[in-house]
Amino acid sequence: MIVLGLESSCDETAAAVVRDGNEVLSNVIASQDKLHRPYGGVVPEIACRAHLAAVLPAVQRALADAGVAARDLDAVAVAHRPGLVGALLIALTGAKTVSWLYDLPLIGVNHLHAHVYAAALGRAAPPFPCASLVASGGHTSLYLSRSAWEHDLLGATLDDAAGEAFDKVASILNLGYPGGPVIDRVARSGNPKAIRFPRAFLQQLSLDFSFSGLKTAVLYHCRGQDEGNPREPLSDSEIADVAASFQEAVVDVLVAKLLRAAHRGGVRTVAVGGGVAANSRLRERLTEDARRNALELVLPPTKYCVDNAAMVAGIGYHLYKAGRVSDLTLDADPKAERRRPA
Ligand code: KG4
Ligand code: ZN
Repeated sequence: MIVLGLESSCDETAAAVVRDGNEVLSNVIASQDKLHRPYGGVVPEIACRAHLAAVLPAVQRALADAGVAARDLDAVAVAHRPGLVGALLIALTGAKTVSWLYDLPLIGVNHLHAHVYAAALGRAAPPFPCASLVASGGHTSLYLSRSAWEHDLLGATLDDAAGEAFDKVASILNLGYPGGPVIDRVARSGNPKAIRFPRAFLQQLSLDFSFSGLKTAVLYHCRGQDEGNPREPLSDSEIADVAASFQEAVVDVLVAKLLRAAHRGGVRTVAVGGGVAANSRLRERLTEDARRNALELVLPPTKYCVDNAAMVAGIGYHLYKAGRVSDLTLDADPKAERRRPA
């Protein structure tokens, strides 16, 4: 079964073609980083206009790269939640148009569940059940993932997302946007033990996260607490130490909580997804800690961690098989799911 996936929830316009849920035939991503860089973050209006220009060329390239024609498709899947509502609408309208034109089933996909599903791409057998962590620019969520499309929310950030913290700390350090990749690079020459930044909720049983206190601690460390009497600008080696110490604090919390979620859910497999899962220190620590705890770790290649449509087409296949097909009334929804009351 050949599924076309579409994704435009934030600042990447993506289209991909995937066979039988795991064989990626094409994976096209049009990034808008350059457009948002001068503003230090995603500007929704600019994102929507850029998606509009990019969506049809992305679909055409995804089909051409895969060597399939639109009439060869069996279904079209689209991330319709959560995200920037105007941005979501562009891929959603594109997917509805393809669905209507070629009389294909339309499958609405939760973008965060698709990030979890990225761990299954290219694998003969999906890694479920597993504990999974999605750490991206907009969300930080822990799930007990029972199947490709059944994910019970165990914990989430109460304030900033992990990727957002990377972006804001990079801005405090004047390292540019997006912050994650540049902090990852700069941290390699820094000392992760130079500054002991706070690790929120680490000592508690909670599976929730909080990163805003950490961001404020970095701000005070770099600029001092008295705005009228700011600290001297940091040297390059001090910047590297701050980046490495900040990154270590984020990684400590993400790794500990993912392992705790696996323990609590009684599963032996852990998976990660979302842009922050591309972080080299997080990948290194997960590899070490999973081995030490005799857990199987599923680390998707970094091209499937950042926003992409292969993960959308892949999970779409399983939703279709489970009969979870939408119709043309499918709407964009900016909100993430809430935890079910205990
Ligand atoms: O999943 P994603 O591509 O988009 C959202 O759904 O938000 O994640 C983007 C986020 C950004 O905050 C970016 O700074 C972060 O992922 N990111 C990283 C790395 N690469 C991207 N964070 C830490 N280390 C990285 N190597
Ligand atoms: Zn994402």
